[in-house]
Amino acid sequence: MPRRLAPKIILALALIVLIVKSVALYVNDRNQEARLLESMTLGADQLSRAIAAATWQMMLADRREAAYSVMQTIALKQGIDRIRMFNKDGELMFSTVAGEPTQVDKRAEVCTPCHASTPPLVKVDPANRARAFREPDGHRSLAMITPIYNEPSCAEAPCHAHPASLKVLGVLDLQTNLSPVDQEIKSLRVRTLLLSLTEVGLIGVFIVFFTRRFVDEPIRELIRETDAISDMQLDRPVKIESSEELAELAHSFDVMRVRLKDAIAQNAEFTHQLESKVQERTSQLELAQQKLIQSDRMASLGQLAASVAHEINNPISGVLNLSMLMQRIVKEDGIPRGRIAEFRRYLSQVSGETARVGRIVSDLLSFSRRSRPQRAPADLNAIVQTTVSLVAHKLQLGGVAVELHLAPDLPRVRCDASQIRQVVMNLLLNAAEAIKGEGRVTAVTRCPAGGNRAILEVRDTGTGIPPDLIGRIFDPFFTTKEEGKGVGLGLAVVYGIVEAHGGEIEVESRVGVGSTFRVGLPLAGEEPPPSQATPDQNGNGR
Ligand SMILES: Nc1ncnc2c1ncn2[C@@H]1O[C@H](COP(=O)(O)OP(=O)(O)O)[C@@H](O)[C@H]1O
Ligand SMILES: [Mg+2]
Repeated sequence: MPRRLAPKIILALALIVLIVKSVALYVNDRNQEARLLESMTLGADQLSRAIAAATWQMMLADRREAAYSVMQTIALKQGIDRIRMFNKDGELMFSTVAGEPTQVDKRAEVCTPCHASTPPLVKVDPANRARAFREPDGHRSLAMITPIYNEPSCAEAPCHAHPASLKVLGVLDLQTNLSPVDQEIKSLRVRTLLLSLTEVGLIGVFIVFFTRRFVDEPIRELIRETDAISDMQLDRPVKIESSEELAELAHSFDVMRVRLKDAIAQNAEFTHQLESKVQERTSQLELAQQKLIQSDRMASLGQLAASVAHEINNPISGVLNLSMLMQRIVKEDGIPRGRIAEFRRYLSQVSGETARVGRIVSDLLSFSRRSRPQRAPADLNAIVQTTVSLVAHKLQLGGVAVELHLAPDLPRVRCDASQIRQVVMNLLLNAAEAIKGEGRVTAVTRCPAGGNRAILEVRDTGTGIPPDLIGRIFDPFFTTKEEGKGVGLGLAVVYGIVEAHGGEIEVESRVGVGSTFRVGLPLAGEEPPPSQATPDQNGNGR
């Protein structure tokens, strides 16, 4: 069974036409044959009567030979196969064909129309007196039995007078060849068949044309149009006018198309508005984040100030003492010979202490410098060392030891060094603040083999973070510290900076054991720097 609608309709209609046409053909054929046989039967009956009438006078005069000769002539002229005459006892009186059996059995088929009942029927209509049958050579014949009735003239004739009580004197059996009729039926059948085939062909062509024109083509057109809609070609109107239903369907699709188009336009407009809103908000957020970073930097700076003051105070008072010592060594005539070495030592201590002051100041400057974010390959180890050097002293005073485990061949990371310094600083200060009493803060750098990240870890042996708070520590203004000590911005800023660098930060913590903050930063994707730390960054972590 085809799956498409048009072939289905065509097939169904063609089947119906074929069935109806075949039944009509069969009934018509049967009818025609019956009509022809009927008219043949009537003809045979008339002929039989004509023969009886033509020979009546001769039979009355008992001129049998002359009567037989008339029958012979009629048989010859009319193309009749055989004319026979039987008397009432079934004896053959005459036949146009020689060598016929002289006696027939009244039970024979030919006699049954009248002799089936007792007494035999006298009047039987022509249709029942005729019978069609097939001869041994295959052709069909029609035989007609016509009774010869006893008439007053017969009963009174002098020759062989029949008693008046006798109704039927004998029968005339006329047999004609049905071959011409069969031939006629055959050719008629062929003609009707041809005609019907032509009709079926024409109807078929019409069905195909009609189905294609009014069903298949409009449906295909509709499918094309709806496909176009599903491909989002929404400018082409859907219009089909082959039939009312399809036009309605097409109209519904068209309404859908227009609504879809409008909805998409509205959506696009909405998306556009949303995008510009998001853009606006993003730039506002960026601004806020910059401000946050800056304010956090200032807060850290405040914390630093005390530590730095102390850091600078020590070497400065050292220098003061040394200069007083040196002043005492120097006499009117210069430095006494024996004390030159001592004087030199003091001098070198002065330059050492001043260099330390200079370093602290430069570190402080690099931390507080308000710079635009600049991404460049940077040495993470150096950044960690610089930052640690700024706070180490203060931490150590508070009983917190600082340890550095820096990977010697750490590849460079792409970052804004001043921002990463801020990250390290915040993590270090948080770690130190989490330690009550004695403890240890460890800064670790490493680069897992095959990874594209440099890892910085800041571990402490502090109080740890309770699990219910760990999810909130990166929130701005979340702090567990008493007022005046913490503002809760440090980790929010750390998170923002790491995020902006395309890195990630995670925390592991156990209450009473300590915490580890792990920061991953993308590598700069170049060869690692030849030496680890510049002289200026050495010797920290005290
Ligand atoms: N190393 C750490 N150990 C324990 N708790 C920490 C640590 N670092 C941060 N925290 C917790 O996270 C909170 C938020 O830290 P932060 O954002 O730096 O703000 P602040 O230090 O001003 O409180 C801190 O108040 C503290 O409770
Ligand atoms: Mg903090």
